[in-house]
Amino acid sequence: MPLIKTCKELKSRLDALDWRGQLALVPTMGALHRGHIALVEKALSENDNVVVSIFVNPTQFNNKEDLKKYPKSLIADVALLDDISKRLLIFAPSIKEVYGSDIASNSYDFEGLDKVMEGSFRAGHFNGVATVVEALFKMVGPNRAYFGEKDFQQLQIIKKLVAKKQLPIEIIGCPIVREANGLAMSSRNERLPKALRMEASFIYKTLQDAKDKFGTKSARFVVDWVKRQFEKHTHLELEYIQIADVDSLSPVPRKKKSGKYRAFVAVYAGGIRLIDNIALN
Ligand code: PAJ
Repeated sequence: MPLIKTCKELKSRLDALDWRGQLALVPTMGALHRGHIALVEKALSENDNVVVSIFVNPTQFNNKEDLKKYPKSLIADVALLDDISKRLLIFAPSIKEVYGSDIASNSYDFEGLDKVMEGSFRAGHFNGVATVVEALFKMVGPNRAYFGEKDFQQLQIIKKLVAKKQLPIEIIGCPIVREANGLAMSSRNERLPKALRMEASFIYKTLQDAKDKFGTKSARFVVDWVKRQFEKHTHLELEYIQIADVDSLSPVPRKKKSGKYRAFVAVYAGGIRLIDNIALN
């Protein structure tokens, strides 16, 4: 499968398809794992052709070290995708192709969705994400785009972007894929030493216990309980725990019967930042 690097080449490849039908986009930053592949497979099952983009987007990294250390494995990624389907196109543009000479984010108003959790701990992150996703939408022109619930806040922000800009693209969320021990799959897991990667299963276990407790206890009680569990853990440092309404993403001091809630955490494991979330009801 050829690796497409420019918009011009992408356009001519798309124009040359015998039957273009429904076109899906799966945006990624590469270092592909089973979580990404689940998105690709769902996109293939629901569309005629699928573009997988691989682009490590500099504007969404608020930490230069994190960007420098972000794993890159383009050859392995292409080999992995090659085996899946002939209906896939891989688009891996350069920074210049995406940004020209001005590597900067646009400013968006996400009506508060970007002010909590990842948005409050990673300044400018969602402006960077939305800038690149909007650029990819323009370059690829998909009917549908697939995003993982692993980054649930990102998924809600992309839905808001599409609604506000009235883009004719259906945004589809896909469930979190986990390692055997429950740890949410992430390109960053590769950087965890083996023992810590096992210990990090504590994150999902704690979220599952939080979900059980949320059945009978208040949101405040569950938040405090989660904080106490992480205080007792010597190798994992909790950055935040938030129980939020799934639509507004605002914290829930008091739950309502009609509400739909999720618990969200960010955790440092040996200097590596991991995020996870779970549906509570
Ligand atoms: P990246 O972290 O590579 O993730 C690409 C897509 O895969 C995202 O939609 C993410 O939510 C999904 N994903 C990652 N791990 C997953 C898992 N364990 N289960 C299910 N889905 C998972 O997210 C980004 O890249 C970037 O912000 C991007 C949208 C590409 C913009 O640069």
